[in-house]
Order: sequence, then C-alpha cells, then structure tokens
Amino acid sequence: MKKQEDNSTSMSPDLETYVRRLRETNTLRESILYSAIQALNLTDGSKGLDAGCGIGLQTLLLAKEVGPHGHITGLDYTPEFLQYAHKVVMGHGLTKQITFKEGDVTRLPFEDNTFDWVWSADCAGYPVADNPIQLIKELKRVVKPEGTVAILAWSSQQLLPGYPMLEARLNAVSSGYSRLIKGKRPEQHFSRALGWFAKAGFPEFSARTFVSDIQAPLSDDISVALDSLFQMLWGEPLPELAKEDWAEFERLCSPKSPDFILNEPDYYAFFTYSMFYGRVT
Ligand SMILES: C[S@@+](CC[C@H](N)C(=O)[O-])C[C@H]1O[C@@H](n2cnc3c(N)ncnc32)[C@H](O)[C@@H]1O
Repeated sequence: MKKQEDNSTSMSPDLETYVRRLRETNTLRESILYSAIQALNLTDGSKGLDAGCGIGLQTLLLAKEVGPHGHITGLDYTPEFLQYAHKVVMGHGLTKQITFKEGDVTRLPFEDNTFDWVWSADCAGYPVADNPIQLIKELKRVVKPEGTVAILAWSSQQLLPGYPMLEARLNAVSSGYSRLIKGKRPEQHFSRALGWFAKAGFPEFSARTFVSDIQAPLSDDISVALDSLFQMLWGEPLPELAKEDWAEFERLCSPKSPDFILNEPDYYAFFTYSMFYGRVT
C-alpha cells in the first residue's frame, strides 16, 4: 500500500504526535490487521462501517477488500483525523468508495440495518464507553441481519527480549494500555469481550488472535516503528515507575544508547491483535 505523506492538516502538536505514531507503527500493524480483515471474508461489493477509523489506515484496506463496488464509511469523533484521512483517500483515488463522517461510536449517526458489517480496530475494544455491552448493541443496531460486527485491539507484546521482568514492570505501571484499563471492572476489559457479544444478544460469536513476529536484521521502517512503539507504550516517566527501571528503559530503548536493543543481532519480538466478532441474526 502506498505510503501516506504530505497530508498534514492544521493539528495541535499532541494530535500531530498521535498521527505520526499511528503512521509509524502502521508498518507493524498493517499486515496483521489485513490478515484479520481477510479472516472475516467480507463480501465483494459489501457496505461497511470503520468505527473509530482515525486517519483511515484500515479504511483503505477494507475498501481494497470489498472491491470497487463496495463502500466504506469511516467514522471518528476527531475532525482533524477525518480531514487527514480524506486527503489520503483522495491521493488513492478512492473517494467514491470511501466517505468519512464525524460521530461518536456510542451514538452512531446511522439508521438501523445500514451496513453489511462493522469493523472497529483499537477503538470499540478499548473502554471508550462505560458500558461496553451497550456499545456492542449500538454497533449491532446498524448492521443488517446476517452481517458481522468485529472489534479488535492490540492484546499483548514481547518487545524487550531478555528483559521479561523489566517489560512486565513497564507494562504494569507505564503502558498506555494499563492506563486505559485503570479502575475498570474485569468484565469491562477487552479480554472479556465474548461476554459483551453474548449479552448484546449475538447467537454466534468467536475470538481469534493474530500474531506478528519481528526478527533482526530490522529494516529502517521497522526500527522506526518499534522506536515509536517504545515511546508510545512506555515513554513517559510515570511516578510509580522505579528510577532504576526508567534508567534501564532509557539504556535499552533510546536510539542513541550504545545498548539500544534494536541493534542486537538476535533481536526478536512479537505482538498480538485479538479480534472478537459475531454474526447478527
Ligand atoms: C488508536 S486510534 C485507532 C484508529 C484506527 N482504527 C487505527 O487502528 O488506525 C483510536 C481512534 O478512536 C477514535 N475514538 C475514540 N473514542 C471514540 C468515540 N467514542 N467515537 C468515535 N471515535 C472515537 C479516536 O479519535 C481515534 O481516532
């Protein structure tokens, strides 16, 4: 897929950083998410919703999957992301197949039974709603009978080979992920999403996890993506993190450090995405 460049819109520095990280880490995410899309066997010419589409990275993949007679609506509540995504889509000549709409995934601005399927990656699976069952019901509402609702989220990683305890401690106090789940009840956690589908009234639902392996030698793009991921997950020195762990993180994860872990000739990492999906009757 063509790289997305020169699509900047007027964004705050925080949003710009967010977009840069989404783009950089997409080098890692794209193939695993495309495998998940393929596993859904979306019908050629079908009409789908990308809920929480961000800058449209998977909207493009989904459009490719359903072909020229299909249509994808990308929905997000951040207008700057949608402007950016629209420019990317224009660059790909896909404006007929893709439209974007501003809106909230918890209150979708669509009639019942509008789509053949809904896809939501790293959005509906995160605690964007206090009541995830209600959110799944909302996604289900806009899907036609026999259609599919699929939600995906980054579910695990091993990025610091040889340092499992450090990685566990970083994850426990510092990762973006642990902050997202702080204060949530166990059944509100993404790993319990089978229960959300059951309680939302899906007669059929399943879970599937996709894994991506990364091994040295690393291409420049993959190194940039991993570096960005380190910063995204652990790059903020939170007060709960012990000083020694922060120092160790900087020693291993700073490109300028002589011990930068991505320079190890035996570097190996993996991460997973989990998908929960159900069929509407
Ligand atoms: C981590 S990004 C993922 C974007 C995209 N799905 C991807 O994987 O590249 C999460 C996106 O969800 C959007 N979002 C979060 N809560 C939302 C809500 N309640 N309604 C609509 N969009 C939401 C954010 O604006 C952001 O673009």
